[in-house]
Amino acid sequence: MSVPDKKKIAIIGGDGIGPEVTREAKLLLEWYASRGLAIDLWELDLGADRFLRDGTSMPKEIFIAIQRECSAVLLGALGDPRIPSMEHARDILFGLRFGLDLYANIRPVRSLADRLVPLKGRGKKDVDFVVFRENTEGVYVGVGGQVRRGTPEEIAINEDVNTRKGVERIVRAAFEYAKTHGCKRVHMADKSNAMRHAHELWLRVFDEVRREYPEIQATHVYIDALCLYMVQDPSQFEVIVTNNLFGDIITDLGAAFQGGLGMAASANVHPAVPGRVGLFEPVHGSAPPLAGKNVANPFAALLTVGMLLAHLGWPEEERRIEDAVADALEAGKCTKDVGGSLSTQEASAHVRERLQGS
Ligand code: NAD
Ligand code: IPM
Ligand code: MN
Repeated sequence: MSVPDKKKIAIIGGDGIGPEVTREAKLLLEWYASRGLAIDLWELDLGADRFLRDGTSMPKEIFIAIQRECSAVLLGALGDPRIPSMEHARDILFGLRFGLDLYANIRPVRSLADRLVPLKGRGKKDVDFVVFRENTEGVYVGVGGQVRRGTPEEIAINEDVNTRKGVERIVRAAFEYAKTHGCKRVHMADKSNAMRHAHELWLRVFDEVRREYPEIQATHVYIDALCLYMVQDPSQFEVIVTNNLFGDIITDLGAAFQGGLGMAASANVHPAVPGRVGLFEPVHGSAPPLAGKNVANPFAALLTVGMLLAHLGWPEEERRIEDAVADALEAGKCTKDVGGSLSTQEASAHVRERLQGS
């Protein structure tokens, strides 16, 4: 049952370090709830353990309840070496991204400390852009197959599916974001020089949509060159829009500018309908070698809570959480991957203490 007037948030810890960082994200949400924020938390037992126990990955009734009752889903990470096929992970992750039509995967690449930027002569002022990753199409749709599997004549195909509607709505979402956030530049990255069918569509749509936003400088760039430019001078980017696969790859590259995957947050939303349920997750995966050791960096998960709260209508909390994380980094109150010596739980508790005092 959902509590009337409260925004319901489903919480899925998932696998590996997922439950550890999500526990900290949940503590932060509980702290907000204790201070009167109208939220109602609903913890779900989904992930590898459950799949191995009873074969269920994403039960239909849970999906329907999320769709009908929830304002947001908070997810830790999925992926377990005991399930090499990733079947459960795809059912849950793609089940939510595709099933809820969350076509915009918004991944801020913002560094919160100079010392975390690994590029020579660069600091946090140079790393502040947002990637709009198309989230419902591309090679992720799973169209394809294998023929003569296991033989020397084997053929394996994954089709890159790009629809006019799908490309247009993510490109427009990127421009709308730029417009409403005072950004002057939007870059679109594709590989239209090689993928002349699928990505020529991106080029054409980008060229059309950009005309609706004459005040914004719109630049097309090939994805390989984009990677070069990102490393050479990330400060030239404000908003980057690209397809599902390229967006996945460049946001791990972007995470390296932020201090690693322990620092990168993301939101999966359907921006055309404000208020619609969104999925919020750190960019990182389940990091199996770190699991169960209380060493994973919880900051990506805490920053993800910030994005979630902004989505629910409390944008000032996103800023406050970001400031508290930046202060914790400054004070060295953080985990080893970002230069500290605290455990997952200690680093997270430190952020809560800072919020308490702010
Ligand atoms: P990963 O993100 O788990 O780890 C990549 C690197 O980043 C590792 O060196 C890891 O130690 C480090 N790292 C990640 N999160 C960290 C954190 N919070 N604190 C400190 N260091 C952190 O990626 P991977 O190793 O390629 O994949 C592991 C599993 O996770 C795979 O099954 C993969 O498919 C899955 N995965 C899931 C998601 C998701 O659920 N959204 C995202 C990426 C990968
Ligand atoms: C991510 C992950 C997923 C993706 C994997 C686990 C399928 O890498 O969320 O970035 O490629 O979208
Ligand atoms: Mn990824």
